[in-house]
Amino acid sequence: MNGKQNAALEAVKYVRNGMVVGLGSGTTSHYFIAALASAIKAGELKDISGIPTSLESDRLAREGGIPLVSLRECGVVDLAVDGADQIDPKLNLIKGLGGALVREKIIEQNARRFICIADETKLIKRLGTHCPVPVEVITFCHDAHEAFFHSLGGTPHLRTAPDGSPYLTDNGNYIYDLKFSEGIDSPADLERKLRARAGVLGTGLFISLAQMAIVGSEAGVRVIHHH
Ligand code: A5P
Repeated sequence: MNGKQNAALEAVKYVRNGMVVGLGSGTTSHYFIAALASAIKAGELKDISGIPTSLESDRLAREGGIPLVSLRECGVVDLAVDGADQIDPKLNLIKGLGGALVREKIIEQNARRFICIADETKLIKRLGTHCPVPVEVITFCHDAHEAFFHSLGGTPHLRTAPDGSPYLTDNGNYIYDLKFSEGIDSPADLERKLRARAGVLGTGLFISLAQMAIVGSEAGVRVIHHH
């Protein structure tokens, strides 16, 4: 098994009967959704409800027979499990290369516990050095943000779909990927500045949200706790 699978299988061990589980997006989360569906089918877990963080995880959960609920129906998520694109030593994350950042953050901010699952390639010392920060913006006057992004030290790139048109999120918005060639000095500060800008709906910076990371390799897993 690869690192992503090992991390996903380990995360299923943290699910208890009766839990509402946030279902992340991306390939690592897909392994988790599949493993959770198998555990439910096998009768190892009972009364589980899932809340998907993207249309894709919604589809996979339905295919796997995981009963779904909305946040309005359940009020709170007991446990959210989701992947990441980068994980720093404080468990601050960059997410959203898959485009689901805003729905993911909504579910994870409403979770009692958020466990990040990833393979070892996602562990880095400094956020921003190996991948850009995705920022979801509403389409209205979107190009007016470019100078602002530059003023924060980021080089913006409007994400495009395979046909060259702007990539559209599940929410009907655009994404700018911001490159920081030297990495990010203060992710929390950057998050505050970006979020204060009208038209910015959300960012892929997940600061102090994950309590735990399960990092998998072919050999097994290791658990990192937030402190
Ligand atoms: C989706 O928007 C992202 O936040 C994913 O969680 C992230 O891209 C991880 O993807 P993989 O598990 O496919 O690496």
